[in-house]
Amino acid sequence: MKLSILQQIGCSNYYVLVFLSWLLLACSTHQLRSYETQLLLQLRKHLEYPLPLSNWENHNNADFCNLLSSPQLTIKCENDSVTELRIMGDKPAKVSNEFRGFAIPNITLSQSFSMDSFITTLVRLSSLKDVTLVSLGIWGPHSDKINRLYLLEALDMSSNFLFGSIPSQMSSMSKLRTLSFDQNYFNGSVPEWLDSWSNLTVLSLKNNRLNGEVPSAVSRITTLIELVLSHNFLTGKLPDLSKLSSLQLLDLRENSFDSGLPPLPKGLANVFLSKNSFSGNIPEQFVNLDQLQHLDLSNNNLTRTPPLLFSLPNISYLNLSSNTLSGSLPEHLKCGERLSLIDLSDNKIVGQLPNCLADERIVKISGNCFSTDARDQHSASYCKDVSKGEGRSRMREIVLLAGTIVVVIILLLVGLMFFCKRHRTQHAVVQHIAPKLQSILSEVENRSSPPYRVFTLPELKEATKNFDQSSFLGQGLQGKVREWKLSCYPIFNSIQKMLDPKPQAAA
Ligand SMILES: *[C@@H]1O[C@H](CO)[C@@H](O)[C@H](O)[C@H]1NC(C)=O
Ligand SMILES: *[C@@H]1O[C@H](CO)[C@@H](O)[C@H](O)[C@H]1NC(C)=O
Ligand SMILES: *[C@@H]1O[C@H](CO)[C@@H](O)[C@H](O)[C@H]1NC(C)=O
Ligand SMILES: *[C@@H]1O[C@H](CO)[C@@H](O)[C@H](O)[C@H]1NC(C)=O
Ligand SMILES: *[C@@H]1O[C@H](CO)[C@@H](O)[C@H](O)[C@H]1NC(C)=O
Ligand SMILES: *[C@@H]1O[C@H](CO)[C@@H](O)[C@H](O)[C@H]1NC(C)=O
Ligand SMILES: *[C@@H]1O[C@H](CO)[C@@H](O)[C@H](O)[C@H]1NC(C)=O
Ligand SMILES: *[C@@H]1O[C@H](CO)[C@@H](O)[C@H](O)[C@H]1NC(C)=O
Repeated sequence: MKLSILQQIGCSNYYVLVFLSWLLLACSTHQLRSYETQLLLQLRKHLEYPLPLSNWENHNNADFCNLLSSPQLTIKCENDSVTELRIMGDKPAKVSNEFRGFAIPNITLSQSFSMDSFITTLVRLSSLKDVTLVSLGIWGPHSDKINRLYLLEALDMSSNFLFGSIPSQMSSMSKLRTLSFDQNYFNGSVPEWLDSWSNLTVLSLKNNRLNGEVPSAVSRITTLIELVLSHNFLTGKLPDLSKLSSLQLLDLRENSFDSGLPPLPKGLANVFLSKNSFSGNIPEQFVNLDQLQHLDLSNNNLTRTPPLLFSLPNISYLNLSSNTLSGSLPEHLKCGERLSLIDLSDNKIVGQLPNCLADERIVKISGNCFSTDARDQHSASYCKDVSKGEGRSRMREIVLLAGTIVVVIILLLVGLMFFCKRHRTQHAVVQHIAPKLQSILSEVENRSSPPYRVFTLPELKEATKNFDQSSFLGQGLQGKVREWKLSCYPIFNSIQKMLDPKPQAAA
């Protein structure tokens, strides 16, 4: 049918067709307002005439909305206003770490470039929703005026020379969905107000000089799909990201995170956490990440891995190299069907290589103490030494602790013995001697002179019963008893009163 129509149209009608399609095109094209045309030309001047904009001369203030899109330059319009501006320059990204916040000839825009004037011009294209200005040598602290682009949904200013902090005024850009400031020199911290971007799906700030901790605000942007903060100077503990149910990519490589690994959201497919100082065990929770495809935890200080990590249904790449994983892997370890590349090199793993790792998969195990493969393996003592070293220091701690406890216990016992002896003595005196003594003493008391009488030995013996007789017997009994009476009587009296509330009645 179609063929016959074409045949009918034939060559003679070809020109009609071309004319019709031209008419159609013309109807759908936009004539850019001249105001916005002027702004675009000004932007080109600010950017010092970058290559992708070189043929604007020929357009003669013509219709920028109808330029053919190329990877280097895209301008899209709606209602005769620019809504998308995409310019990819050819200035080198991050050439050196020499950048000190001043223009570098042939690398950044010139010293006369002003970020603030540039942004002031840009924001007058007030319908912009999508801005990409990459590799243009733009340098300076970012301008806080950028927030005037209140319709902005996507901003990519990667591979430039922006530094300082991400302006806090940007928090008002509530429509923002993707933000990329990769490969710049931002040297503040990750903004604490990130969660004001409640529709943010992509946050990419890799390869900057961001420092400090990742604020917990990140864990509240539940729309996030990609979080990329790799190659910065971020430290400390990661917030709990487990509520980011849309998150698929987490890339925090090459920072200085030094905590344990946090729980991760279940939807993650790609997790790159290598070259940090994450320590502790790989959390058991990771075995629930059933969408996980790539997991790179290499170059950290991780000590144990849950065996089930190897059998995740979708995992294909597992890099655990250069950690301090110790112990052995279960002989009947299960490997996921898609697992094709496992790197366990440079750890302290001992024992047999599990069967599933001896399969046709690519498995790197050098620098461990596996007994199966002597090649590239350390002698068992290397892995033992570490655990022993750890064990030894732990042992030392334990010994120290135990020693302290023993000393304390001994001191306590000695003290207790002393106390008990005294106490028992007094107690015994009170219990066994007190009644007898009381009668003796009251007898003594009843006599005016001498204030004490001479007791017979049996009397005393009976009175003092279990009391320390030997020390008495060595001395003159009289003296001892006198001494005893003088020093002990008031005590006995009070003790007796305590024990026997009605001594007078009893007497
Ligand atoms: C374009 O104009 C139409 C009609 O005035 C309006 O409905 C639409 O929202 C406008 N689009 C933009 C992006 O301003
Ligand atoms: C950020 O970098 C710029 C340019 O190198 C420097 O002037 C500024 O002091 C740095 N700020 C901080 C907080 O390090
Ligand atoms: C900048 O580049 C141009 C051409 O590529 C070259 O002629 C000029 O010498 C360079 N200037 C500097 C300072 O490197
Ligand atoms: C966020 O996205 C939703 C759905 O696309 C939209 O309805 C809402 O207006 C957006 N919020 C803001 C602040 O733009
Ligand atoms: C694992 O990571 C290390 C360091 O991060 C890297 O050198 C190595 O090539 C990776 N292994 C594989 C198989 O990709
Ligand atoms: C991590 O391991 C490295 C190298 O093994 C070591 O220098 C560093 O002290 C360790 N860091 C922590 C926090 O254990
Ligand atoms: C594996 O990933 C695919 C998408 O890549 C997904 O559709 C599938 O549900 C995942 N498998 C499991 C067991 O989750
Ligand atoms: C001590 O004297 C009192 C009266 O002064 C008397 O009641 C008591 O019986 C006397 N006790 C003895 C043991 O003689």
